[in-house]
Amino acid sequence: MKKISILISGRGSNMEAIFAAIDAGELPARVVSVISNRPQAAGLAMAAARGVRTAAVDHRQYPDRASFDAALAAEIDRDVPEMVVLAGFMRILTPGFVESYAGRLFNIHPSLLPLFPGLHTHRQALEAGVRIHGCTVHFVTAALDHGPIVAQAAVPVCDGDDEETLAARVLREEHRIYPRALRWFAEGRLRLEKDEAGVERVRVEGVHESDPCLLAPSLLTS
Ligand code: GRF
Repeated sequence: MKKISILISGRGSNMEAIFAAIDAGELPARVVSVISNRPQAAGLAMAAARGVRTAAVDHRQYPDRASFDAALAAEIDRDVPEMVVLAGFMRILTPGFVESYAGRLFNIHPSLLPLFPGLHTHRQALEAGVRIHGCTVHFVTAALDHGPIVAQAAVPVCDGDDEETLAARVLREEHRIYPRALRWFAEGRLRLEKDEAGVERVRVEGVHESDPCLLAPSLLTS
């Protein structure tokens, strides 16, 4: 049973999806802590109600990123988790922090990376006029929103979509792929490999057609 520490900044719906997958027996892991940089994050109360250890490390109390990251790492390391999972965690992490959790630090980003890194991804997608949008689970590296990709899900961009409708469609897929990608890691099925050009790629062992890395949009398959 792998130990997971989840980092959040807000409502925590991806965190809830992870809890739901664990409850359903679909993710062989245990959440040992939920930590937020915002003391008021709604997800903290939800985690506490489940009896999970919660902590707030308020970034405004620290003079710089390095001291905040050191405090955050100390809080994470209390439980010695095997996986550190960013779930709507809205702080840029220092290269030193990222390095110390290399190969076990995950993020979910609401776009099909490498398209639309950064903020306001749904607005970026609408402005670009793309017909397909989605979300990405990736290993975190020092390059913001550019780590090796574990899983992606695509959704259509429909005529008449606004940021809200598109965000809701993408979020449903986030809730499907994040627990699944974490399960692959928990089961020891993810391999990080360097290709000939030195680019790190993820290989998922034992993936079948019924369990693909690219998930078809639920809108089209239901
Ligand atoms: C999600 O869209 C996630 O991809 C992004 O921030 C949002 C967090 O939502 N990084 P929640 O807190 O998991 O509900």
